Amino acid sequence: MQETSSVNSPGATDIYSERVLVLDFGSQYAQLIARRVREQNVYCEIVRHDITAERIAELAPRGIILSGGPSSVYEPDAPKCDPGIFDLDIPVLGICYGMQLMCERFGGNVRNASAREYGHAHIKITDPTDLLAGLPDETDVWMSHGDQVEQISGLFRPLASTRTCPVAAMRHVERKQFGIQFHPEVTHTPLGSQILRNFVISVCGCEGTWKLGDFARETIARIREEVGTARVICGLSGGVDSSVVAALLYRAIGDQLSCILVDNGLLRKDEEAAVIAEFSSHFKTDLHVVNARERFLKKLEGISDPQEKRKCIGYEFIECFKEEASKIENAKYLAQGTLYPDVIESGAAVDGPAAVIKLHHNVGGLPAELGFDLVEPLRDLFKDEVRKLGIELGLPEDIVWRHPFPGPGLAVRCLGEVTEEKLAILREADAIVVNEIKSAGLYRQTSQTFAVLLPVQSVGVMGDARTYDNAVCVRCVDTDDFMTATWSDLPYEVLARISTRIINEVKGVNRVCYDISTKPPATIEWE
Ligand code: XMP
Repeated sequence: MQETSSVNSPGATDIYSERVLVLDFGSQYAQLIARRVREQNVYCEIVRHDITAERIAELAPRGIILSGGPSSVYEPDAPKCDPGIFDLDIPVLGICYGMQLMCERFGGNVRNASAREYGHAHIKITDPTDLLAGLPDETDVWMSHGDQVEQISGLFRPLASTRTCPVAAMRHVERKQFGIQFHPEVTHTPLGSQILRNFVISVCGCEGTWKLGDFARETIARIREEVGTARVICGLSGGVDSSVVAALLYRAIGDQLSCILVDNGLLRKDEEAAVIAEFSSHFKTDLHVVNARERFLKKLEGISDPQEKRKCIGYEFIECFKEEASKIENAKYLAQGTLYPDVIESGAAVDGPAAVIKLHHNVGGLPAELGFDLVEPLRDLFKDEVRKLGIELGLPEDIVWRHPFPGPGLAVRCLGEVTEEKLAILREADAIVVNEIKSAGLYRQTSQTFAVLLPVQSVGVMGDARTYDNAVCVRCVDTDDFMTATWSDLPYEVLARISTRIINEVKGVNRVCYDISTKPPATIEWE
């Protein structure tokens, strides 16, 4: 394994020593706010909006951000925060709904705006200090609100306005408390990072101690201490999360690590060989490859309902994993690639928001009943941080930037009953799609790209003969968080090459379509 200096550098500071809390009022952007703060090298956590001032005082954050949210502050059931928060002498930044809450708390007035603002807006900055320091007199921002602050109390003064919103930003005249009506966390606010940086660094006085190199060093030390001489099992999928978990564990405990790769026959073309090759070149440790291709295919025989397929694959995966794990002596721990969004979405975070709609499907996860203690070294990280950590740990770009692949694999992209013949066609078509996207330099720009084998045949002509063959659909999406997605605006030449190559090279396919559905209402996968 390649050594990197930052991971091994001694004497770094406590990376959690400075933290900023985001109080979540139901904003679709709460996670994005936390990620943007972390980009300033400041650790940021999302907590429930009704966390008490007392609890916040215990946590001693450097700053508090009140998120946006879908409610109106003047509605009877509108979520509120503990008013004691404003007396803690901790800087506060209210964003949109958060700003309106502050305004209401201090005797200002919030009303339904006559001109609702959704989308781009242009602000004029009248006070370019503190929060808005270094910004030009005018700049574009992203607004998304029906309500707005109409009047502020004498305790606040305005910092910026738009044509229809007289108080687009405000500050308390004595305390370090700020409100902004727009969203600095979205990329549509081009100087949003500068505003968040001003808040966490200049206003809150953070120095920026959240560094992934130090995170790796601390985590490795913690794993060593926790695990002692026991053996740890790690399931490998070839995806970035499990690879980074394996890399961290390998650094921590070397040959006390055993990895299990279940080849369910539903992987992409040459995927199993690629994972083994990458793994062996990076780690000299115990790898168990379970060849369960026939076993999965047999179990899937006759099943065409998507949920049934998922259940069957999930069950079989756990069985295979259990059987293999039972052969490994002295195994006490199971390492999992749980990420921070999983922790907050499941409501498992201390002080975290309660469970929200869980969109991720748990097929491919392992149940607690396996009897191992869990090691979850990525629990505090967002996906983009996992990627950066992978680079810190010396993993190749090819692994770090690999698109996510669902646990049930090609089974949910081979619509209807799964057979070896259909999988063979799908694998070839899918390999062409990925290959052409990579050749066009679009792999990093897109979030997920793949082929789907449709359960329809259509008429065609090839040479002089009539064909009645399969149709393949190409799916390529752009997304930040996989909860919403847009179809990628691929150049026609790339689509044309994909189509020509699939029809010419994959026997059994005579038609190719491109999926132009957004999520929602469609999902990324077809099943
Ligand atoms: P959908 O299709 O719901 O997918 O828009 C959102 C993201 O989740 C992935 N996905 C899965 N991942 N096991 C997984 O590990 C699954 O069963 C599963 N189903 C969907 C999907 O590829 C996309 O990234």
